[in-house]
Amino acid sequence: MSRCAFVNGRYVQHADAAVHVEDRGYQFADGVYEVIAVHQGGLVDEEPHMVRLARSLRELRMDWPMSERALGVVMREVIRRNHVSTGIVYVQITRGSAPRDHKFPKHATPALVVTARRGKAPDPRLLEDGVKIITVDDIRWKRRDIKSTSLLPNCLAKQQAYDAGAVEAWLVDEDGLVTEGTSTNAWIITQDGELITRPATHDILNGITRLALIRLAREEGLSLTERPFTVEEAKRAREAFYSSTTGPVMPVTEIDETVIGNGKPGTFVTKLYAVYQDFMAGAPKVEELPALKAAAE
Ligand code: PDD
Repeated sequence: MSRCAFVNGRYVQHADAAVHVEDRGYQFADGVYEVIAVHQGGLVDEEPHMVRLARSLRELRMDWPMSERALGVVMREVIRRNHVSTGIVYVQITRGSAPRDHKFPKHATPALVVTARRGKAPDPRLLEDGVKIITVDDIRWKRRDIKSTSLLPNCLAKQQAYDAGAVEAWLVDEDGLVTEGTSTNAWIITQDGELITRPATHDILNGITRLALIRLAREEGLSLTERPFTVEEAKRAREAFYSSTTGPVMPVTEIDETVIGNGKPGTFVTKLYAVYQDFMAGAPKVEELPALKAAAE
């Protein structure tokens, strides 16, 4: 079955999906994106993803390529045409194409690409055993809160992790504090059973999974503090994990070759994973168009 993508107003075969060579996303990484999970026919946390997209666009002084409601329709159509019941839908908006010039073009139409693909659940062995990560200097720019397509430092760090036999890298700022993973948010559980994750400032991407987990953890009565933590503190933690749309909760059992806790995913991570699975199972079905309010904010 052939895949299909939406590119600048048209549904096209995935193999033929292309943008212009002078698209500013291609030339300057002048674009933003969102990745939304589709879980058993449900669209997970669509509204907060749209709120974040609206914010990313606003921060970069970019226009919506179409109304938010129309984008919701296109996303659903791409999901439907690709028969995705569990997987992801990907939305990318760039400032559009124009003769190469660093300053913003006077007349460019924002370019929109929407794709969807089936996804597998994470390998159960990773959930049972946890994963190994490394720590790497965070060399990114100072506006990591914007979900920009400019991801080269993230790609370099992820590759470094893979080269070291790990699956993720936690990025570390100049004060020795963990910012986040290359494509995930970082969490630890202290020996006292307190959940810690870095506050959402310009230093990290405010993950939508992170936000849901904060809410769910509080509903479960877990003690949670949003504060930065050092690599040393992470190594001494009872448990550690990272979160993302594609994860969504991944236990970390080794950091830079230091074993975390007893080397197995602990009770907190296991609980949060289960609670998040239940939350995903309740996601509104893809066919339903929600009452959206992101554009108004
Ligand atoms: N990455 N931090 C970074 C740097 C990320 O790129 C991501 C998401 C997250 C987690 O955000 P969320 O919970 O909203 O997925 C944190 C996506 C999945 C990606 O780039 O593919």
